[in-house]
Amino acid sequence: MRGTPLNAEMVILTDAPTLAEAAARRFAALVGEAMAARGRFSVALSGGTTPGALYRLLAARPLPWAQIHLFWADERCVPPDAPGSNYRLVAETLLADAPIPLENVHRIRGEGEPERAAREYERVLRAFFGEESPRFDLALLGLGKDGHTASLFPGAETLAEATRWAVPAAAEYEGRPAWRVTLTLPALNAARNVIFLVQGAEKAAIVRTVLADTAARLPAQRVQPPAGQVTWMLDIEAGRALAHG
Ligand code: 6PG
Repeated sequence: MRGTPLNAEMVILTDAPTLAEAAARRFAALVGEAMAARGRFSVALSGGTTPGALYRLLAARPLPWAQIHLFWADERCVPPDAPGSNYRLVAETLLADAPIPLENVHRIRGEGEPERAAREYERVLRAFFGEESPRFDLALLGLGKDGHTASLFPGAETLAEATRWAVPAAAEYEGRPAWRVTLTLPALNAARNVIFLVQGAEKAAIVRTVLADTAARLPAQRVQPPAGQVTWMLDIEAGRALAHG
């Protein structure tokens, strides 16, 4: 696409399986780069319906799992075995098949009280990254039909958070659990790489708004790491409205 206002790279794939394949290749390439540079790879994963296919593909790849650390971009405040749990999604699609050491799995305790869970998660992040910033090698994000990403929703006060890395959040979205814990903009904007993975015709309108209407100031538009690369990976359905100008 002609330079997106967000200065992001964009890749459009023919269909959802091809999108998942391309995302798995991109993920593996970023793992390779991080391993060469720092000997470990840290990723913040998302929930929702989109990334499951990618996680399944990753589970089948011979990645250096002992050096890969999994975090979550957000979590719904439900127990880890509940159907709405983002941890559970990753457990079923990735952890079940990939040899990832338990100590590399840094989940958000969704079963806890949200404020406490957010503070606990921030402690985990600070222990891993140090006090300066959570420099994820990759933040893998989705996009809601309202422009939310992670659990940063339009108009929410979480968007104004300037110092904390993880905060509680509450939002109604498609009947999903309302209470959540989310990484903040300062945390996401410390990432080395951000991939937005978006598929389906129902996302076409919001993809166009996010990528073409800079005045909208939607949460997804505010993920712009000053020292990081943002890549939008879309299937053709999600990218459909972009072609018309
Ligand atoms: C969550 C997510 C959230 C998600 C979007 C898109 O916990 O719900 O992390 O930010 O990525 O809502 O969800 P879909 O992939 O289901 O469209």
